[in-house]
Amino acid sequence: MTFAILNGKLINRSEAKVDIEDRGYQFGDGVYEVIRVYNGKMFTAKEHLERFVKSSDSIGISFPSTQEQLKSLLEKLIHKNKLQLGIIYMQLTRGVAPRNHAFPSEEVMPALTAYTKEIARPVENMKNGVKTILTEDIRWLRCDIKSLNLLGNLLAKQKATEEGGYEAIQHRAENITEGSSSNIFIVKNGVVITHESDNLILKGITKDVILKVCFENNIPVEERAFTLEELAGADEVFLSSTVSEVMPIVQIGDKKVTEGLPGPITRKLQELFEQEIENHCGNL
Ligand SMILES: Cc1ncc(COP(=O)(O)O)c(C=O)c1O
Repeated sequence: MTFAILNGKLINRSEAKVDIEDRGYQFGDGVYEVIRVYNGKMFTAKEHLERFVKSSDSIGISFPSTQEQLKSLLEKLIHKNKLQLGIIYMQLTRGVAPRNHAFPSEEVMPALTAYTKEIARPVENMKNGVKTILTEDIRWLRCDIKSLNLLGNLLAKQKATEEGGYEAIQHRAENITEGSSSNIFIVKNGVVITHESDNLILKGITKDVILKVCFENNIPVEERAFTLEELAGADEVFLSSTVSEVMPIVQIGDKKVTEGLPGPITRKLQELFEQEIENHCGNL
């Protein structure tokens, strides 16, 4: 039997159901998180739980438990489901109430759900690099909130998929923001450059681990917006996310990056990132 979490309880996954008037279902009125699990242990759980609470606070949903309580429940879920390598997906919505745009009264309890999924590390793609496409960033101005409203991201990813790409790199006018479900980095003359974590992008947990290992290993970093022109002239390009880790980008549209091979700093960051995983979760 596989288990899921529904409002603080571990229950049979097939019985984890929500009402058709759940505001997450009707409006996308909620937030979510994805935590990577290696060797049955959560990687950067604290950072993900903090971001979960921050997202929820920023749309005025009161978080239904402490981070510690949720963490120990998630550990139970991993254990019950015998998950070794995969993810936990969790989401919090404003709860069930008659459909009305304005928020319901405070008696309406937020709905928290979580489940696990086995997912392998994308080793082949990490070795060879992936193809991406460019697309305009049509999303709202609070991309720092990990909101369930993902239509802009979905349209971008679908475009990439239709064009045989792994990811869509989004830009607002001349500036690159982020991928549809990842952060984007370029390397130029040995400097790693990535958009600052403001309202236009999600402050990626993987991004922050990468910036930390850059700092510890004297790899220079500039956290600032970079342009389409800088992207085209970059020595190396890569993306980062919980599931994709440090993923080399070897093609953007029809144009090859680094002659179609992952670059040396990207490789180095992959090694340093793996080391971080192993330090916290054991050998890969
Ligand atoms: C829009 C967006 N940006 C960036 C990321 C990367 O964030 P993280 O490294 O925390 O997974 C994600 C992850 O899903 C995302 O959806």
